[in-house]
Amino acid sequence: MLESPWRAVITGGLLAVILVSGYLLSRAGKPYGALLFNVHKLIALGAVVFLVLTLLKLNRVEALGATAFAAALVAGALFLILIVTGGIISAAKAAPGFVSLLHRIAPYFAVIAAAATLFLLRGRP
Ligand code: HEM
Repeated sequence: MLESPWRAVITGGLLAVILVSGYLLSRAGKPYGALLFNVHKLIALGAVVFLVLTLLKLNRVEALGATAFAAALVAGALFLILIVTGGIISAAKAAPGFVSLLHRIAPYFAVIAAAATLFLLRGRP
């Protein structure tokens, strides 16, 4: 099991790659570059899988507290929204405005919720 600082460093690194590749994608516009798009999409999925596995392991060692559990649920819901809206934006010719807006705003709340979750679980082996 990764020590607490490494969980935060890895999550922060993955989120940084996702955010930077996202900004580059929206700046360049459609059609999206395959490399950038795949980096954005796959690292996003990788980050979600990493967080879910980390939380499952932590929960097995000692049940998550109610606050950490709530923060994890919020983060999970936001990541789900990002995956769905990201899929719609990339599949649709022109995605509805609210879908693009959601994909623009949700990342900041997802970063905060993920950081809060890991912070609440800091110091756990
Ligand atoms: C952890 C999940 C994700 C995060 C945190 C995230 C974050 C971001 C951010 C910050 C942007 C830039 C938005 C802006 O202009 O301000 C962006 C753009 C974009 N993302 Fe994501 N993303 C995630 C998942 C995905 C997935 C799974 C897909 C595709 C299946 C995707 C597709 C896109 C596309 C196509 C753009 C460019 C939108 C445009 O043209 O304006 N994203 N993303």
